[in-house]
Amino acid sequence: MEENPFREHIVSRGRPDPCTLVIFGATGDLTNRKLIPALYNIAVDDSLPSKFKVIGFARRAKDDSTFRGELEEGNRKHSRQDHDDALWKNFSDSVHYHQSEFADLDGYLQLKKRLNTLDAERGTPANRLFYLASAPAYFDKILFMLRDSGLNQPTEGCWARVVCEKPFGTDLPSAQHLNRVVAETFAEEDTYRIDHYLGKETAQNIMVLRFANMIFEPLWRDRYIDHVQITCAENLGMEGGRGGYYDSAGALRDMVQNHLLQLLSLVAMEPPSDLSADAVRDEKVKVLKSLRHWTSPEDVAANVIRAQYTPGSVDGIDRPGYRQEDRVDPESKTETYVAIRLFIDTWRWDGVPFYIRVGKQLPKKATEISIHFKETPQIPFDTKALPSSKNVLVIRIQPDEGISLRMLAKVPGTTPRMEPVKMDFRYSTSFGKASPEAYERLLLDSMAGDATLFARRDEVENAWAFVDKLENAWHGNHGKQPPMAEYPAGSWGPREADQLLEGDGRVWRRL
Ligand code: BG6
Repeated sequence: MEENPFREHIVSRGRPDPCTLVIFGATGDLTNRKLIPALYNIAVDDSLPSKFKVIGFARRAKDDSTFRGELEEGNRKHSRQDHDDALWKNFSDSVHYHQSEFADLDGYLQLKKRLNTLDAERGTPANRLFYLASAPAYFDKILFMLRDSGLNQPTEGCWARVVCEKPFGTDLPSAQHLNRVVAETFAEEDTYRIDHYLGKETAQNIMVLRFANMIFEPLWRDRYIDHVQITCAENLGMEGGRGGYYDSAGALRDMVQNHLLQLLSLVAMEPPSDLSADAVRDEKVKVLKSLRHWTSPEDVAANVIRAQYTPGSVDGIDRPGYRQEDRVDPESKTETYVAIRLFIDTWRWDGVPFYIRVGKQLPKKATEISIHFKETPQIPFDTKALPSSKNVLVIRIQPDEGISLRMLAKVPGTTPRMEPVKMDFRYSTSFGKASPEAYERLLLDSMAGDATLFARRDEVENAWAFVDKLENAWHGNHGKQPPMAEYPAGSWGPREADQLLEGDGRVWRRL
């Protein structure tokens, strides 16, 4: 039997080498809600490297035991699997706290000593994973200090890697600057830019669906596909004090530049020559480079809808409008919803529109990709009574992860009646176990040295190049700013976003 090239990827690999994870900004929300619960779950699944250690690096003074107590509270709330006291005790014994200012070289030199002592005590190699989970404003400083203290230089036969949380820059120049700083400190192959959507089980399944199944790939092109939709809906607003950050970012920077364009690249990429990190990312970056840029305010107005939510209700609960949210400017011009018509100028996707939409305070949380196939050239049946005879392949990223295919079938009986039916695959029923959280996969990959599910320098920069043009049309000094639309909280977005598709004779899929 021929070897399936995806086999190596699908079959789980061995346990990563012993290493120490240093988390910068360890008293923050991300560590508490995501990183520690992810590590705990990896420990429960018995997949952590042996003699693994975590060192939380942050500015506030506290000792190991206070730090562990805070993390325990977070783990009880956020762990995917039940919190077990004995397992937690075992895991948390490997967690330590290191207090220092981010800009204090001495703190890093002390850290170096501490790491060396821990390795000497445990007889472990000096493998280090540095995780930047602080506010992004400190990334430069931390990187420079890692360089000046020599922590970025692995000892012989060991490795030193850096993981950068999002946001990676706020526009192209700032991302380029950060990339230069990173490159002065770590080699690109040791740099792991997180996009947690790539760690989601179903996002990884896009490549398997496309390249390990013969039936889809021949159809995956302009000749058979009418259009593609990618929706990322959230039913939350600015809870947890997020208004301050969000008001300076907006939906385009917060979600489109990274998560949505990453999903788009996975759907639209050519088959990679192999599954090495660079082969996969070479293909993804070609998609980003082929995106048609909307540059003039007129083009942006015709292809991009931005909107803000006004007061409304989600799940029967009253919600304030965006401008009334805590820490949001009452005159804010930040978008909480974006819909874009995109084109990828390649042979494969010639003339096929990709519609993407993302928004806060929509009726439910759901992320999905739908591939809408063309009608058959001649339909020898009477389809007038049907809404559409198009096949639709839906990849549900979350929740209810799975894939479904809509097709027409004959209704049993003597009259020739047809109805759409669905073939449905659900992760939960087919595999009978819950998918790991995205951070579990990504942390393990970075320990194992597999950068496939992390964004490369050129991916990030090409995505910003596209996004910056839209930001410039919205906020530049040209006096032709496309309008900001509105939608009540709890609705599916502004009327203008529906019109964007209606003009093309299409409609958004109902989720
Ligand atoms: C983050 C954004 O990257 O992704 C948030 O900053 C958003 O605004 C979140 O809520 C969504 O992630 P998920 O995994 O809950 O879909």
